[in-house]
Amino acid sequence: MIGRLNHVAIAVSDIDAATAVYRDTLGAEVSGKQDQPDHGVTTVFINLPNTKIELLEPLGEGSPIAKFLEKNPSGGVHHVCYEVDDIIAARDQLVKNGARVLGDGEPKIGAHGKPVLFLHPKDFLGTLTELEEA
Ligand code: CO
Repeated sequence: MIGRLNHVAIAVSDIDAATAVYRDTLGAEVSGKQDQPDHGVTTVFINLPNTKIELLEPLGEGSPIAKFLEKNPSGGVHHVCYEVDDIIAARDQLVKNGARVLGDGEPKIGAHGKPVLFLHPKDFLGTLTELEEA
């Protein structure tokens, strides 16, 4: 069902400092900073030859990553994102197999303008798992 690893998301409290680590220390190609008010985060994408790293900084009140950063003040891996061909078919099969979809269970338009869903970390080895229709 799942295909390519689309990205690994890392939550950070200072996205400029985090971007500098990837750009200057690791020598990676980084995107500009983008506010995603619908998702409560500011993002920067690190473009690697085989995947992306998504840096996330909280944006506004009640950001979905605020609690994670309280527990992980120096930042940390927040979720992984796999590509699927058909997000509704993937969701229906996962739900049939007992997996829990977060929120209302309907795909939302994600940071790349494509439909995404998040799966409960307790069903996936303690890892918040995002599916994106590629
Ligand atoms: Co993501």
